[in-house]
Amino acid sequence: MTEIALEACNIIAGYVPDLPILRGVSIKVKRGSLNVVIGPNGAGKSTLIKAIVGLVPVSEGNVFLRGKEIDGIKPHLIARYGISYVPQIDNIFRTLTVRQNLELALRASGKNANKRLTELLEQFPILSDKLKEKAGALSGGQRQFLAVAMALSTYPDIILMDEPSAGLAPKAAQEILELLRDLTNRGVSILLIEQNVNQALRLADYCYILAEGRNQVDGKASDLLNDSIVGEIYLGGKRLRVGA
Ligand SMILES: Nc1ncnc2c1ncn2[C@@H]1O[C@H](COP(=O)(O)OP(=O)(O)O)[C@@H](O)[C@H]1O
Ligand SMILES: [Mg+2]
Repeated sequence: MTEIALEACNIIAGYVPDLPILRGVSIKVKRGSLNVVIGPNGAGKSTLIKAIVGLVPVSEGNVFLRGKEIDGIKPHLIARYGISYVPQIDNIFRTLTVRQNLELALRASGKNANKRLTELLEQFPILSDKLKEKAGALSGGQRQFLAVAMALSTYPDIILMDEPSAGLAPKAAQEILELLRDLTNRGVSILLIEQNVNQALRLADYCYILAEGRNQVDGKASDLLNDSIVGEIYLGGKRLRVGA
């Protein structure tokens, strides 16, 4: 079996015909690895994930899953390809209880739903204590745990997750990132968009930096963490002042 779980090559994609947002982006996700995508607002990070799952039309480029090219994936069928996508917002139903959220995610599991629910509650004891609570009443960190539990309901081997730690306190952000790291240790491959660059680089295997719809830099996360230019721009170092 190929070592590469997911590969996107020279993706050109956008929301409106002839107005590309991604202008030739390429990424590779090795099996069981945690890959982080960083870059300024508007760089095209969310668009990249949406293009991979078929939510944004791809005009050029190729997507390969486990070495096999897939053409025009349908967003509602991604679970069949072993993919789960966790969007940045609206990734849970706030007015439903935790149990109802999980049951919705498990509705495709048929007679295996109860077994999978038991497994997920064992994996996420914090959720089993809150089954009757409205998801909207959970803390921000707990809501992201619920979103991940729902994403796991279909036994995905690839998870695409958009800024799970946005708006969370550092401790909760760390917990969700560690949860994702733990999932990769169990063989899941993850492509993660993050703004908490420092925290993410400490846990990730590989990092892609996008800007203006293009790959800027990529490399091993540990190398980029020690890279002076990346440090200056993304890790709170002295910023280069244009025209100063
Ligand atoms: N639904 C949309 N329709 C049109 N343009 C969009 C839409 N969503 C995002 N864009 C544009 O695409 C560009 C990249 O957005 P996005 O991928 O969300 O960036 P990032 O996630 O890196 O902050 C931005 O210029 C944004 O305005
Ligand atoms: Mg985004």
